Amino acid sequence: MAMSESKHLSLLFFFFFFSLFVAFSLAANVTYDRRSLIIDGQRKLLVSASIHYPRSVPAMWPGLVSTAKEGGVDVIETYVFWNGHELSPGNYYFEGRYDLVKFVKIVQQAGLYLILRIGPFVAAEWNFGGVPVWLHYVPGTVFRTDNEPFKRHMQNFTTLIVNLMKREKLFASQGGPIILAQIENEYGDIERVYGDGGKPYAMWAAKMAVSQDIGVPWIMCQQYDAPDPVINTCNSFYCDQFTPNSANKPKFWTENWPGWFKTFGARDPHRPPEDIAFSVARFFQKGGSLQNYYMYHGGTNFDRTAGGPFITTSYDYDAPIDEYGLARLPKWGHLKELHKALKLCEHALLYNEPTVLTFGPLQEAHIYTDSSGVCAAFISNVDEENDKMLTFRNVSYHLPAWSVSVLPDCKNVAFNTAKVRHHTNIVEMAPEKLKASTMSPEKGLENLQWDVFTEKAGIWGDADFSKNGFVDHLNTTKDSTDYLWYTTSLHVDESEKFLSKGGSHPIIRVESKGHALHAFVNKELKASASGNGSDITFKFESQIALKAGINEIALLSMTVGLQNAGPFYEWVGAGITSVKIDGFNNGTIDLSSNTWIYKIGLEGEHLNIYKPDGLNNVKWVSTPNPPKNQPLTWYKAVVDAPYGDDPVGLDMIQMGKGQVWLNGEPVRRYWPRTSSIHDECHPKCNYRGKFMPNKCSTGCGEPNQRWYHVPRSWFRSSGNVLVIFEEKGGDPTKISFSRRVVTGVCGFISDNYPFGDLDSWDKNSEFNGEAKVTLQLKCPESKLISSIRFASFGTPNGTCGSYLKGNCHDPDSISAVEKICANKSECTIALSKENFNMDLCPGLSKTLAVEAACS
Ligand SMILES: *[C@@H]1O[C@H](CO)[C@@H](O)[C@H](O)[C@H]1NC(C)=O
Ligand SMILES: *[C@@H]1O[C@H](CO)[C@@H](O)[C@H](O)[C@H]1NC(C)=O
Ligand SMILES: *[C@@H]1O[C@H](CO)[C@@H](O)[C@H](O)[C@H]1NC(C)=O
Ligand SMILES: *[C@@H]1O[C@H](CO)[C@@H](O)[C@H](O)[C@H]1NC(C)=O
Ligand SMILES: *[C@@H]1O[C@H](CO)[C@@H](O)[C@H](O)[C@H]1NC(C)=O
Ligand SMILES: *[C@@H]1O[C@H](CO)[C@@H](O)[C@H](O)[C@H]1NC(C)=O
Ligand SMILES: *[C@@H]1O[C@H](CO)[C@@H](O)[C@H](O)[C@H]1NC(C)=O
Ligand SMILES: *[C@@H]1O[C@H](CO)[C@@H](O)[C@H](O)[C@H]1NC(C)=O
Repeated sequence: MAMSESKHLSLLFFFFFFSLFVAFSLAANVTYDRRSLIIDGQRKLLVSASIHYPRSVPAMWPGLVSTAKEGGVDVIETYVFWNGHELSPGNYYFEGRYDLVKFVKIVQQAGLYLILRIGPFVAAEWNFGGVPVWLHYVPGTVFRTDNEPFKRHMQNFTTLIVNLMKREKLFASQGGPIILAQIENEYGDIERVYGDGGKPYAMWAAKMAVSQDIGVPWIMCQQYDAPDPVINTCNSFYCDQFTPNSANKPKFWTENWPGWFKTFGARDPHRPPEDIAFSVARFFQKGGSLQNYYMYHGGTNFDRTAGGPFITTSYDYDAPIDEYGLARLPKWGHLKELHKALKLCEHALLYNEPTVLTFGPLQEAHIYTDSSGVCAAFISNVDEENDKMLTFRNVSYHLPAWSVSVLPDCKNVAFNTAKVRHHTNIVEMAPEKLKASTMSPEKGLENLQWDVFTEKAGIWGDADFSKNGFVDHLNTTKDSTDYLWYTTSLHVDESEKFLSKGGSHPIIRVESKGHALHAFVNKELKASASGNGSDITFKFESQIALKAGINEIALLSMTVGLQNAGPFYEWVGAGITSVKIDGFNNGTIDLSSNTWIYKIGLEGEHLNIYKPDGLNNVKWVSTPNPPKNQPLTWYKAVVDAPYGDDPVGLDMIQMGKGQVWLNGEPVRRYWPRTSSIHDECHPKCNYRGKFMPNKCSTGCGEPNQRWYHVPRSWFRSSGNVLVIFEEKGGDPTKISFSRRVVTGVCGFISDNYPFGDLDSWDKNSEFNGEAKVTLQLKCPESKLISSIRFASFGTPNGTCGSYLKGNCHDPDSISAVEKICANKSECTIALSKENFNMDLCPGLSKTLAVEAACS
């Protein structure tokens, strides 16, 4: 007994000292100088990736972080979302998607660093820029200027987050992963607009942050006047030209946008991988040492968290990891190879000034050498049109237009930004009809039984208030809901000519500050209208029928995500500003100063009928044939989870506009709003030259958000309750779940891509000229290459999904590829004479293009 007790004690002591030791040994000293961040005396070249915790679900976090790590990322960067955490003053929420501590610890467990952008103003295409709407209604508050209530609340929240991180020992100075923290966000861009309040506020914010004593440096992005010791950083598509505001600060890039966000009814923006890689390589070539992709995983704006207005529920961002959590190929893979090549240069890069050689007006090399003589070089060709052959240290190099070559040994090209070697995935949304749960015997196995509840057009229950004239929508709802009813009545005299046979219809003319509206006259939907991402205000006119006597005009005004940025953005209002009707005997009647009766929100929202514990709060009508094209309708059904474990999207193409929940979890806004066919789309985008969000769009004339991500973790094995509120009319029986699946892979490689094998890079080995050119194909786990749909060795061209044979083609291409790849989950095809007829079309550069099916 005594023995075992003392053993026990010594074990306890051991653990006590061991944990002390661990805590101390992991505490890191994070400093910086003009070249880089320095962690425990070591200079760091850092690749960072934005993943916002509430834009996915906790069940996805470990996978996203490990896919980022596998992609060569060292740091995860996230904003902190104040309005998700402080629901009302002093009422905090840190659960579920908002479990910040859990997220940071997942990053730590993966062995990655973290950049915490506290803001707490964040913009981020997030509702109200992340600031709680209630703060706008604290008397005397003006956001983001030298204003006492704002500063007090901002300091309070910043301190709360810092204390939370300190308590959990999450700063690097305490042994945690957080190496940098950010205060404010892109304020320098608009500081002057705030006049006398601007500069003092920015200086106050910096000082307040530094006084938090977190033991790691603070950054301010796009803040040209950030005071020491706060580091000012760059956000843009390109930051190679950026210089920090002091010679002691390193050159950091907090937002490199690998794509762009989307608004309802606009095109799908894409940024080519060649150009992203180019921008990153240029940045490191020209002295940068930390670069972050905003976003690396964009994810989903669940619930009503999208800002804008008009930002879609999808925040895919064309990021290296797609909205559903799958690596986007080739983008993810191309950047992974770039990161490997950069890491090979880390030591040479960070210890001395480069030597710069110029080869022409648009071509230059930066050569970095460390004290041990290790040499790394970046050679760039920023010509937007022409490739260039140049000679560097007696070796000649081919540089495609708008590209950078990375030479980790100043001799061999490990990577060229324009030569995409990584395979491409063919991704499809595979539809699956909604199936009734087999667990509820009273329901059919094939057809769904729907429950239907229809809202009244206009005031339900008691009116909230009435007023002569219009109120501001946002001031009235305070964003507790998207919806606000404006109703009025109008007496029509029998003598009105439009009542007589052949009389022309009156016309209603409505103007609104935003964002969208459905107009009902005598309970019938007469018109719908909305602003858009470039102009939130709108007006419309529509013929209506009026009857003699009392007529009811009921206008359902909607917000579609609140303003998220811009000077004084919190004062931008919404809602109706004018209603007139033309065609009366007396001309036009202006209803704007009528008595308007108001109702905030929908009855179904008020009764929580989308929540598990509120489902029975209304009398649903049960039917296998739910009404179609009927406005203001709630639909409910019990559905099976889609087969397998692929990510799931809800296909809403046959629906109008509304909101959707599964098991009470908020997917929320859907709106398959069609983009104009007159927009310019560029599916075959030229990566060369400066990128702009509109440069490489797709989806012209198509509904721009068709699928809505429903995380797998929201499904139960059976008895899943799907609730939909449709505003203007749709067909719920046409809704389907789609599984996001990789159905094929493509690869395209030319014999002028002779780089070394990055995985086995060794400075002593010779790659020059000898490097084998290989094409790797890989299906997702558990799938095999089942057939070769296309293969051509010769001069094929085109893009994945539409490759074409060229004039030069080895007729045995398909069988050669089949021999190597069929029935394998991955394969490597060498461009060698063992596999192909290398004597084909002599003098021409040869390419292999393959498209294979995965199943
Ligand atoms: C942290 O590192 C800096 C320079 O890298 C050094 O000057 C300082 O003494 C270090 N601090 C601690 C506590 O080790
Ligand atoms: C923030 O404000 C709340 C409510 O006024 C207060 O209870 C809390 O102590 C404050 N927190 C900090 C960190 O200042
Ligand atoms: C380049 O070649 C010249 C002539 O052969 C030789 O003198 C020189 O040392 C070479 N330079 C390098 C960097 O290899
Ligand atoms: C947005 O609406 C305005 C005003 O109705 C219109 O002129 C503009 O073309 C629209 N923009 C887009 C991108 O649809
Ligand atoms: C909202 O209400 C405030 C306070 O009454 C007022 O100052 C502001 O102008 C209103 N906003 C809008 C957009 O009408
Ligand atoms: C038309 O205008 C006249 C004179 O202003 C007014 O007396 C009459 O009531 C108006 N009629 C209607 C239907 O508003
Ligand atoms: C692809 O090849 C075809 C046939 O050789 C040729 O007509 C076409 O211009 C090529 N397209 C591109 C983009 O090179
Ligand atoms: C692949 O496997 C299938 C089924 O096992 C078989 O029928 C087929 O012949 C195989 N194909 C090749 C090229 O080996």
